[in-house]
Formats: sequence, C-alpha cells, structure tokens
Amino acid sequence: MRVHQLEVGSMQNFTYVVEDEETKESVVIDPSWDLDLVIEIIERNSLKIKYVINTHHHFDHTIGNDAIAKHTKSKILQHESSTLKNDLRVSNGDKIKFGNSELAVLHTPGHSKDSICLIGDGKIFSGDTLFVGNCGRVDLPGGSAKELYHSLLDIIYKLDDNLTLYPGHNYGNSAISTLGKEKKTNFVMQQRTEAEFLDFMSRD
Ligand SMILES: [Fe+2]
Repeated sequence: MRVHQLEVGSMQNFTYVVEDEETKESVVIDPSWDLDLVIEIIERNSLKIKYVINTHHHFDHTIGNDAIAKHTKSKILQHESSTLKNDLRVSNGDKIKFGNSELAVLHTPGHSKDSICLIGDGKIFSGDTLFVGNCGRVDLPGGSAKELYHSLLDIIYKLDDNLTLYPGHNYGNSAISTLGKEKKTNFVMQQRTEAEFLDFMSRD
C-alpha cells in the first residue's frame, strides 16, 4: 500500500491517494481544494480509483467529492451517520477492499458524529480525530468532548504503537507520526479520567 500525501487548500488539509501497488486499484481520502494535485497523482501512476472515502462530512474534507468521483467513475463512501450524499455507507468494523489491499473502518466520534479512522498495512488515517500533537475541535455541531475522550483513550490508545499516523490536517511539527510517538508526546493522548479530559477540553 503506497500513500501519496497531498497538502491542499489554505487550511492545511491533507488529501490522500492510497494505492494498491500490485493492481493500481486505489482510493482517494478526503478530496478537497486542489484537485489538480490529486488528478496528477492518478494520471502519473496510472491509478484506477475505486472509492472516494471521507473521514467525516466537514466541507474542507469533502468539497472535491463529486468532481473526483465523476472524473474517476468511483463511488463515494462515508460512515453511516454522515448526512451528505454518498453511494455507500460503512459502519464500525467494515473492511474497504481495493486491489489486494484493505482498510478497516474504526468509528471514532467526538470531532463529529460520523468521524472514522481507516486502518491497514501498518497505517492509520485519522481524519480530524487525532493530529500530530493535538486532536480535532469538539465545539462544532455534532462534536462531543466526551465521545472524543472515549475514541482517543479507549479505542485509538489500544492500537499498535507502530502504526504510522496520517492526520487530516498538517497542524503538527511533522506531516506524519506514529501512534507510539503520539502516545508519548501528544498532550491529548495522556492518561486522564474523563472528567479531567472534559475539563481541559473546555478551556481555551
Ligand atoms: Fe473537521
């Protein structure tokens, strides 16, 4: 599984093109803003896009959905609780297959109700649930600090330290990280009670 990480737009978003190297069948995660970059990667590597996948419904991760899906004749895939237009809905534990690769869906609400992480081949695409050095905000509609606490500390914390982290924005001091490094250094991943987590998330 080969990952093309593209920084797009003015909000430091990451779009990912994830390639099954053996078959060239691929997926695009969170297409938005600079679609030329996505199309260039697809054409240069002769990729066949099977799905457009969104880590959550926010506009800065989805505004390129229709254009890329139409251009590549692919299907738009989102969590079942998304309110946006899509072709396929997935739920926790589902496997998204393309070529000989697959990504497992992990439902991680908190930043939004429909937030998912995608895990496969030693990688985790975390959307706006977990950034390098931080986590997503919880003050937008559908956000919940309580849900994010459980997603980060009860679900993501239990995953393998060796997973390479591919976040939804370039907000940290590096574009990628590992889960082990985030567990050690990211202040939101430190062991806290739910009450302690809610307290610090409510501060500015
Ligand atoms: Fe978001």
